[in-house]
Amino acid sequence: MNKKNLREIIINKRDNEPKEERHNKSLKIIKKLINLDIYQSSKIILCYSNIKSEVETLGIIQNALKQDKIIALPKVINDTEIAFYKINSLNDLKPGYQGILEPSSDQLDYSLIKDALMIVPGTVFDTKGNRLGYGKGYYDRFIAKYKPKYTIGLAYEIQLSDEIIPDKFDQKIDIVITEDKVYR
Ligand SMILES: Nc1ncnc2c1ncn2[C@@H]1O[C@H](COP(=O)(O)OP(=O)(O)O)[C@@H](O)[C@H]1O
Ligand SMILES: [Mg+2]
Repeated sequence: MNKKNLREIIINKRDNEPKEERHNKSLKIIKKLINLDIYQSSKIILCYSNIKSEVETLGIIQNALKQDKIIALPKVINDTEIAFYKINSLNDLKPGYQGILEPSSDQLDYSLIKDALMIVPGTVFDTKGNRLGYGKGYYDRFIAKYKPKYTIGLAYEIQLSDEIIPDKFDQKIDIVITEDKVYR
C-alpha cells in the first residue's frame, strides 16, 4: 500500500484506542525498553515528547534523568531538520507548538550521537525495522546524517503492518518495542 494511505489508516486506529489503554500499553513498552541491556548501557539517550496518540515517553525521560544519563529531545528547526537539546530536568521542557513539550535548553554536543541510543517515534512499523513517520522525513535525514549507535522505535501492536514499502532514503531502525514484544 502507498505510504500515505497506510499512515492514515494506522493513525486513525491509534487515535481510536481509549486513552487509558494507550497509557497502560505505554507503561509496558517503557518497562521493556528500560530492561534492555542496550538501554542500561547507553549513557546518551535521544528521546521524543509524545504528541497525540503516540506511545508516551515521560517515564523514559524520568528514568534517564534519575540514572544520570545524558538525555536530549528534539525541536523542529525548519522544514527538513530537527535538532536535539540536552535537558537537565523536566523544567527544561516547555509546551511549544501544538502543546508539544519542547526543550528550552542547550543544543546537545553532537559528537556524542555516535554513542547514543535514539528512541524514534513513528506511525507505522514492521517487525523488520521498517518505519513510517508523518511524511516529512525528519528522522530519515537525521539518522542518515548523524548515525546514532542504536535506534529503537516504540509502537503499539496495532501500529504494526506488513505493507510498508520502503523508499531508498528510508532508514531502518534496529529494534521495535510494543506492549507485547521486543522485535529485533
Ligand atoms: N536523506 C534524505 N535526503 C533528502 N530527502 C529525504 C531524505 N529522507 C527523506 N527525504 C524526503 O522526505 C520526504 C518524506 O519522507 P518519508 O519517508 O515519506 O516520510 P516519513 O519517513 O516521515 O514517513 C520524502 O519526500 C523524501 O524525499
Ligand atoms: Mg521515511
